Amino acid sequence: MKKTIRDYELRNKKVLIRCDFNVPMKDGKIIDDTRIEESLKTINYAISEGAKVILLSHLGRVKEEADLKKNNLAPVAGRLSTLLGKEVIFVNTTRGPELEKKIEAMRMGDVLLIQNTRYEDLDGKKESSNDAELGKYWASLGDLFINDAFGTAHRAHASNVGIATHLPNGIGFLMEKELNALNGLMDPVHPFMILMGGAKVSDKVGVINHLVEKADAILIGGGMANTFLKAKGYSVGASFIEEDSLEFAKTLLEKYKEKILLPIDVNVTTEKTDTAVNRITPVETINENEMILDIGPASIAWFMEKLSSSKTIFWNGPFGVYEMPKYGVGTQKLLEGICSLNANTVLGGGDIVAAAAKFGYKEKVSHASTGGGATLEFLEGKELPGLAVIEEE
Ligand code: 3PG
Repeated sequence: MKKTIRDYELRNKKVLIRCDFNVPMKDGKIIDDTRIEESLKTINYAISEGAKVILLSHLGRVKEEADLKKNNLAPVAGRLSTLLGKEVIFVNTTRGPELEKKIEAMRMGDVLLIQNTRYEDLDGKKESSNDAELGKYWASLGDLFINDAFGTAHRAHASNVGIATHLPNGIGFLMEKELNALNGLMDPVHPFMILMGGAKVSDKVGVINHLVEKADAILIGGGMANTFLKAKGYSVGASFIEEDSLEFAKTLLEKYKEKILLPIDVNVTTEKTDTAVNRITPVETINENEMILDIGPASIAWFMEKLSSSKTIFWNGPFGVYEMPKYGVGTQKLLEGICSLNANTVLGGGDIVAAAAKFGYKEKVSHASTGGGATLEFLEGKELPGLAVIEEE
């Protein structure tokens, strides 16, 4: 068991908390603040325990000068301040006298946010390469380090791994919640069903390989189903497929004949627009010029029948182009279906969580992970460096 924030006396301590405030932004505005909301429990706890709360996070990737403006954390400070109902001192730099002075002036319960840790990437990728001097410097600003950035735990960067090597440390409440939910999938109550969607098979090979023996069935949808259907010998017309993954799909279908379930009908069109005509067809009769953009009603009914007795469900990746009303039906109906079951339902990966939010099911599932890559790497059985570095109890 990892040490947690509860294991430390926080009163009057400078507590560095690594959050994952890497939220989707458009024109300087936050589109989805889930990751900020999910960090509140740890931050509020530290405030109420009398800590001086110093927050660090990355936002986007910083490769050139123009990325600085795009990835400025100032809007996050504003949103966080609203959600906390108190001032968040925002320091527009990642190091130096101004930052140090502001930290020295902090009182118990104050909250300060340091500018995007990846600003340090502009000059020699210091954050992303876990530059030893940078991690040591950030650690020198605090007395204790709490890693609550589950979404970044698969990275070994200065602001998570680097700092942790120099300070007493533990995990925050969000990290703990994510680990509990995902660990539950490693020793699942059966029947354990997995729904795998999204565009690419290649992104999911590791997770499928790691979980296929534990699962009672894997239901495949979304763009990746096209590759599986083709591997099974169907013509998928003009649908997106991954040639490089055909062999993997074939082998999996042969080895786990009963376990891998593919759509039996699909929603196809000749053009990916709202206005182009679409039709529902069995997978046997897709025309050369048609592409699959969603699963069809017979697949939904069949998948729901298979899911009906499940006790544990993990879902990664939408089953259609859910952003378009005509092609979101499969994802929406299956979300509705799994939320009506008496099962532990876990969503992992940004797109399926965004789809659940759009259709109003995000609060109805047992757990919607804030991690994308981190969730997948965890479920591939890989060690997450941001977690491995944290002290054991
Ligand atoms: C994520 O959104 O997956 C994390 O914040 C990590 O971001 P990254 O892929 O840019 O390292």
